[in-house]
Amino acid sequence: MARVSKRERSPARSGVFSKPADPLTEAFTQSVSFDRELARHDLAGSLAHARMLLKVGLLTRAEEAALRKGLEAIRAEIEAGRFAWNPAFEDVHMNIEKALADRAGAAAGKLHTARSRNDQIALDERLWVREQLDAIRAELHAVQRSLLALAETYAGDPMPGYTHLQRAQPVTCGHYLLAHVEALERDADRCAEARHRANVLPLGACALAGTSLPIDRAYTAKLLGFEGVTRNSMDTSADRDYLLDFAYAMSVCAIHLSRLAEDFILYATTEFGWLKIDDAWCTGSSIMPQKRNPDLFELIRGKAGRAVGVLNHLLMLLKGTPLTYNRDFQEDKEVLFDATRHFRASLQVLARMLENVSFDRAKMEAACVGGYMDATVLAEFLVRKGLPFRQAHHAAGQLVKVAAAQGKTLSELSVREMQAVHPLLDASVKPVLGPRGAVNSYVSQGSPNPKLVRKEVAAWKKRLARGR
Ligand code: ARG
Repeated sequence: MARVSKRERSPARSGVFSKPADPLTEAFTQSVSFDRELARHDLAGSLAHARMLLKVGLLTRAEEAALRKGLEAIRAEIEAGRFAWNPAFEDVHMNIEKALADRAGAAAGKLHTARSRNDQIALDERLWVREQLDAIRAELHAVQRSLLALAETYAGDPMPGYTHLQRAQPVTCGHYLLAHVEALERDADRCAEARHRANVLPLGACALAGTSLPIDRAYTAKLLGFEGVTRNSMDTSADRDYLLDFAYAMSVCAIHLSRLAEDFILYATTEFGWLKIDDAWCTGSSIMPQKRNPDLFELIRGKAGRAVGVLNHLLMLLKGTPLTYNRDFQEDKEVLFDATRHFRASLQVLARMLENVSFDRAKMEAACVGGYMDATVLAEFLVRKGLPFRQAHHAAGQLVKVAAAQGKTLSELSVREMQAVHPLLDASVKPVLGPRGAVNSYVSQGSPNPKLVRKEVAAWKKRLARGR
């Protein structure tokens, strides 16, 4: 626990107390050791709040100017790392208020007019969420751009596609890579939705019941760039949905990163041998000299646990808390900040990693041969000839059995051998067989046909260049 000085006490301890807090009370309840991460947002909120108080006549021009000067000085000190954070003052809010009292004199005592730490913390957190989501959206964008560059390079190259981790049908590497781009786009949408819901001003709810003072919430909202103000003071004080939305958006995205990492780890194994990771992005073994390990991908996969952990943590934190504010809520920050830091590091690393990997086209294509992955397009060939799909599916299965018995691929069977299985099979089936034949035969929108993939690459390029 952070050590607390015995001489100073939080301005939040009013005249009602007849003795100072026990050092253990102070040490156990302090949050400044971690909520100081919100200092910038706390200052921005206070500056806007002071301007609003001036507008409605609760501060004089001189008082507002003194507060502004004091708050700016504190901001400069914090930025320079010179600010003396003191756990005796509990949290970021009280630390700044105390410092302001030393700088702005009597006016400092007026800043907390029509404000509680309950709406203040909700404000700081909403501003933090907004800022993080904007940064995350930009970082997601960078990962998408790296994936897109790879998708362009390998647009038409066949690779096996899997279901149940069994070879299923040939796809193209570009199509596979664009699948990840799609998932990340949904993440970006989720971030935008979470931002929208967080982007409402809680200030003015005060502790839980608003205030008898004539404040102008819409004005403060405008100053801070919020889309509106919250509607119910009790809900505002009790609400942490903006953190749940944030943690959910982060968790889903972290799961996407983890699944991508898992694929790439698999593809980089000797058994697959499709993916080469540049030396600068691999790690070695302390004992096995031959090792080149994909630790960065493994860490991206591992760190996803933190994001999901924080989502669970926040849900459990809120469960069973009575309306409105409860001190339990203070426990929302530390793990959230930690998980977010690690999540954003994963995004940043991944964007760079993807610029430093290459796929082995020949090995991927070779892996498409031998697993009868073209059996489905062969069945579809028979459907085009008029056969009901169930019969076509059965005939294609029989043909696989015939080919397998001779250790041949479907392409290697003669027309005579094929016709022995079904008379509708003739030489015109040949072009749809084999990895390239199969991928070129796909026509449905959203399929891995190299022509369609190239179009998709072009569309994504335009879309990402617009910056959303
Ligand atoms: N540190 C507190 C939190 O994070 C700030 C609000 C404190 N409010 C209070 N009434 N003690 O929730």
